[in-house]
Amino acid sequence: MPKLVVVNRAGEEKTVEAAAGLSVMEALRENGFDELLALCGGCCSCATCHVYVDPAFADKVSPMSEDENDLLDSSDYRNATSRLSCQLHMSDALDGLKVTIAAED
Ligand code: FES
Repeated sequence: MPKLVVVNRAGEEKTVEAAAGLSVMEALRENGFDELLALCGGCCSCATCHVYVDPAFADKVSPMSEDENDLLDSSDYRNATSRLSCQLHMSDALDGLKVTIAAED
């Protein structure tokens, strides 16, 4: 099963298993990262599942849609590596993906 490396808001790093096909948001919630609110449940309409993707994986994750881009613009904490974790889906190609949970807006 692909591994997902997560840095929480306290700066602690933890590696968890994330089944292929699950969104990164779902994998985070399944593994108890409650700080990720994911209020809309993955419909790409809330931006409370904001994470930073390690630059080493920038060209491996799926491209950003216009909706995701617009939503991320509403965050004060957006940077060049920002993504909405509900829009990223785990796969073997993303084994070892590292994400950092962004600060809450
Ligand atoms: S869970 Fe709402 S945009 Fe990702």
